[in-house]
Amino acid sequence: MKIKKRLGIIIVFCLIILVHLVSNDLVKFIKNKFNYFSNDDISCYRIPAIAESNFPIFDSASGKNIFFHETSCVTKSGTFNINCRQACAIESAAYSNAEMSVILLYINPFKLSNHSLNLISKLLKYYPNIQVRRILVEEYMKYTPIEKWFASGILQSSRWPNSHMSDILRYLTLWKFGGIYLDLDVVVTTSLVNLTNFAGAEDWMDVAAGVISFSENGLGRRIANGCLRDLMRNFRGDLWGNNGPGVITRTLQKFCSVKYAKDMTSKRCNGFKVFPPSVFYPIFYKDWRRYFQTEDFNATMKLINSARAIHLWNKLSFAEKVYHNSKVPYAIIAEKYCPHTFNECTPVF
Ligand SMILES: *[C@@H]1O[C@H](CO)[C@@H](O)[C@H](O)[C@H]1NC(C)=O
Ligand SMILES: *[C@@H]1O[C@H](CO)[C@@H](O)[C@H](O)[C@H]1NC(C)=O
Ligand SMILES: *[C@@H]1O[C@H](CO)[C@@H](O)[C@H](O)[C@H]1NC(C)=O
Repeated sequence: MKIKKRLGIIIVFCLIILVHLVSNDLVKFIKNKFNYFSNDDISCYRIPAIAESNFPIFDSASGKNIFFHETSCVTKSGTFNINCRQACAIESAAYSNAEMSVILLYINPFKLSNHSLNLISKLLKYYPNIQVRRILVEEYMKYTPIEKWFASGILQSSRWPNSHMSDILRYLTLWKFGGIYLDLDVVVTTSLVNLTNFAGAEDWMDVAAGVISFSENGLGRRIANGCLRDLMRNFRGDLWGNNGPGVITRTLQKFCSVKYAKDMTSKRCNGFKVFPPSVFYPIFYKDWRRYFQTEDFNATMKLINSARAIHLWNKLSFAEKVYHNSKVPYAIIAEKYCPHTFNECTPVF
């Protein structure tokens, strides 16, 4: 009886260990199988090229630039996507800023899906100021202050490597070329051509990183240098917002010698402008649904119409459908500021 009991315990114990081992392997296997080129995978960053019909590799920029970055490695049947809302961001920048170059930089070595290629081809046809270029990460980092730091494998420590890559690239691109960086979930509603050296606050405390402009030389360059230094010193792979908004906020806190965004006046910041939330983030992130509902339409449109560009909080709002004839604020502004994209994206934008 006692021996039976003991044997039972041992068997159960062995079973537990076995299940544990198998499940660990299973988890690893599933991760490898399904995470390959999935949302938070960065293995494509090292791949020179897979598709033949890639756009040219990015060389250099001159003049007034607006940059967008696509940093995901996601592929679906060997292709990757620029979706309707991303195309809308790019079109809206080009539409309201004919005097500026609008440049989409992406890393993915695969070719664009048919639908995305169709969207992008339309944009290239209608807007001579749009360029689409692939970058090779290693090349792009060369001869920059962060080359060694990046090569040491910093992204491996990140829980959100695609997102953190996007953070790193925005500061690097502006350091390299100067210009305006925009997130791919904005809609530009005004000309930005006469504005330089600015960012936007998203609340009274923090500066956000969805819209940033640094001049190639002088003031902008000094802040860009500060941002790269902060990035290297304070990078945290385990804090999502530390390397995007965190970098610009900390850098400006030092540069302007004040703690809160609301106190970062142009005078205190030696001419750098930190715009209030109403300028680029007119709807607070917690209220993102207002872009997708007809309730409060007039009030929402009033806020939108007094902004220069609006940030749509894609991380929260991506799954929310916008039907063409729905008359929600997002549909109205897309139709107005990215008309070709909106036309192509039926019935759901
Ligand atoms: C995409 O377009 C190519 C060339 O026109 C065609 O051969 C291919 O079947 C298309 N793929 C899909 C998924 O529609
Ligand atoms: C930008 O500034 C130039 C020169 O002052 C002026 O001619 C132009 O109208 C301005 N553009 C916009 C959109 O404000
Ligand atoms: C919204 O504005 C329109 C046009 O200005 C007006 O006709 C309508 O009554 C307003 N709706 C509300 C709910 O205030």
